[in-house]
Amino acid sequence: MKVLLTGAAGQLGQALIASKPAGLELIACSRGELDLADAEACRVAVQAQRPDWVLNAGAYTAVDKAESEPELAQAVNAGAPGALAEALAETGGRLLQVSTDFVFNGEQGRPYQPDQALDPLGVYGASKAAGEAAALALPGAQVLRTSWVYGPVGHNFCCTMLRLHREREQLAVVADQVGCPTSTLTLAAACWRAIGVGADPAADAASSRILHWSDAGAASWYDFAVAIGELGVAAGVLERAARVTPLTTADYPTPAQRPSYSLLDCTTSCAALGLEPLHWREALADVLCCMAAARS
Ligand SMILES: NC(=O)c1ccc[n+]([C@@H]2O[C@H](COP(=O)([O-])OP(=O)(O)OC[C@H]3O[C@@H](n4cnc5c(N)ncnc54)[C@H](OP(=O)(O)O)[C@@H]3O)[C@@H](O)[C@H]2O)c1
Repeated sequence: MKVLLTGAAGQLGQALIASKPAGLELIACSRGELDLADAEACRVAVQAQRPDWVLNAGAYTAVDKAESEPELAQAVNAGAPGALAEALAETGGRLLQVSTDFVFNGEQGRPYQPDQALDPLGVYGASKAAGEAAALALPGAQVLRTSWVYGPVGHNFCCTMLRLHREREQLAVVADQVGCPTSTLTLAAACWRAIGVGADPAADAASSRILHWSDAGAASWYDFAVAIGELGVAAGVLERAARVTPLTTADYPTPAQRPSYSLLDCTTSCAALGLEPLHWREALADVLCCMAAARS
């Protein structure tokens, strides 16, 4: 199988490269090889490579900055999957479009099902929702939504909190937004499964066009920051944890509004993928162990 990966330098892209299944031909494109803001370049890449799958892990992910750069966010997050899907329709390939819990408004107070109506609150979420629609115009496309992604490398909440735990005595973190942290390690495994690699014959990811994947459980950003401190000390990546105090969203205004409760119900998708999710604290412990191993 030949897979063209976009966003190869991103945190998910790096986890996908690190976990590349044996025997799979991976064409890994970072921004230098393929500019996702250039629709024609996306079409040309598919026509040149003729992959079995495009795994579109590249995205404009700066949620706040997107509010002042809506055209660029739209070009990368919606224009690119649209162009990739168009070219794949000609070459006969398939598309896995990675998407986000931010396509929902977070107001219903219970986990979102894959088939629920979208209502994004900000430019980033709206551009990702448009990207889902553009991808799904291709009959062979799948959308895999995930949430609160972090991993051992890249720009993410876990790496930022580890730095702040080291630098400060006390941190204040938002406690009234609830979702589920998702490790790039488990997310990469779910992406490979979604495109049929190592699939359990009893599972049928192909039957679900929209999949939800997050680690298990629920957390606020505050809970996540406390756990990063505790488990960071246990893993040996922190000497001590800072004291974490809760903030409200109103105390910490940001340019983009975020959903207050954006848990994804992953039950049917886990069954379709044939994967059992780890609780987010266990997944976090694994990521911190990877970081500790990389430091030693
Ligand atoms: N991060 C989260 O919390 C989160 C939550 C839910 C869903 N997701 C989704 O998960 C997927 C992976 O995100 P991630 O967390 O791995 O994000 P990331 O670390 O920010 O990686 C995104 C990658 O996309 C690349 N990119 C941005 N604009 C580009 C362009 N014009 N041309 C080519 N490449 C471009 C970036 O390139 P550079 O490295 O050159 O900047 C970066 O390597 C995305 O679809 C995202 O929407 C993320």
